[in-house]
Amino acid sequence: MSDKLLVTGASGQLGRLVLHHLLETQKVRPQRIVAASRDTSKLAEFTAKGVEVRKADFDDETSLPAAFEGIDRVLIISTDAVGEPGKRLRQHLAAVEAAKKAGVAHILYTSMPKPDAGSPVTFAGDHRETEESVKATGIPYTIIRNSWYQENLLGSLPQVVSSGKWYSSAGDGRVSHVARDDTAAAIAAALASSTNESAIYTLTGPTSFTTAEIAAQVSEATGKPIEVVKVSDEALAEGIKAATGLPAPVVNLIVSFDTNTRLGRVDFVTDDVRKLTGREPASLRAFLNANKASLGA
Ligand SMILES: NC(=O)c1ccc[n+]([C@@H]2O[C@H](COP(=O)([O-])OP(=O)(O)OC[C@H]3O[C@@H](n4cnc5c(N)ncnc54)[C@H](OP(=O)(O)O)[C@@H]3O)[C@@H](O)[C@H]2O)c1
Repeated sequence: MSDKLLVTGASGQLGRLVLHHLLETQKVRPQRIVAASRDTSKLAEFTAKGVEVRKADFDDETSLPAAFEGIDRVLIISTDAVGEPGKRLRQHLAAVEAAKKAGVAHILYTSMPKPDAGSPVTFAGDHRETEESVKATGIPYTIIRNSWYQENLLGSLPQVVSSGKWYSSAGDGRVSHVARDDTAAAIAAALASSTNESAIYTLTGPTSFTTAEIAAQVSEATGKPIEVVKVSDEALAEGIKAATGLPAPVVNLIVSFDTNTRLGRVDFVTDDVRKLTGREPASLRAFLNANKASLGA
C-alpha cells in the first residue's frame, strides 16, 4: 500500500511552508512526499531534497490522473482564482474528482471559517461547495479552515500607516488573524498523521481584536498615530473605488471581509493550532513588531 503524501499548489506561499514542515518538523522522508504545481520548475529546491515533483493544474483535468496516481493522503490547497466567478469552484471540484478517481485514502482541504450560506464573504460559496464535494466522496477527510492570515495586513496597513486613517465598516467586530506559518505547521501535522477519522479544524491566532485594538497595536509598533474612521459598507466601497479604481467584484470582496467581521463571524479563538502542532500560535503583536519596517515605521 502507498504511503505517499501529495501537496497541490506546492509552489505557493502556503504550499512551500507545508513542504518545509513536512520535511523539517514532521521529519517525513522526502521519498514519501509528492509536490505538485502548475510550474514544476519553481520546486527545484524540493527536488534537490529528494521530493518527487509532478505537474498538476486544476484547469487542465488531463494533468490530474498522473499527478494523483498512487497517493495515500492528498492536501488540496484552495486556489487564488477569486477574480472570475465559478472558476475557483470548478478547479476545486476537478481536484476532488481526481482524488476520488485515484482512490486516495484521505483528503485534506484548506477552507475558510464559517463558509455557510449566511456568509457575506463573496467567495464563501467556493469553500462551502468544495467542502460538500469532499464529504460527498465518502473518503475520510480533514477540512482545515484558516482564519485570515496576519500577512494579509501587509497589503492594507502600509497605506493606513502613511495616511493615519483606517476606513472600516467592521464596526466593533473582532477578528483573530493567524500566522500563515502556524497554519502550514498544523496542516503538515494533519497531512503526516495516520488518522482516518474525518474532522474539521479552524485555525486562528491566540486572541481576537477589534479594528481599533489592531490600530492601537500598529501605532505602538510603528510609532505612527492611526484614527479608525467607522463607515458603512456602501461608503467603504465608494472610497476604495475612488482611491484605487479596482473593479467592482474586487471592491465588493474587500468590503465583504469587513461585513463578515462586523457580523461577528470571525470573532472566535480556537485551540486547533496547538492541538495539531503542540505549539502556541504566534500573536499579532509579535507579527506587527517583526514587520514594523514593512508597515512604515
Ligand atoms: N486565510 C487567508 O487569509 C488567505 C489569504 C490569501 C489566500 N488564501 C487561500 O489560501 C491559499 C494558499 O494561500 P497562499 O498564501 O499560499 O496563496 P498564494 O501564494 O497566492 O498561492 C496561490 C495558490 O493557488 C494555487 N493555484 C492557482 N491556480 C491553480 C491551478 N489552476 N491549479 C492548481 N493550483 C492552483 C497555486 O499553486 P501553483 O502555483 O503551485 O500551481 C498556489 O498554491 C490561496 O490560494 C487562497 O485560496 C487564504
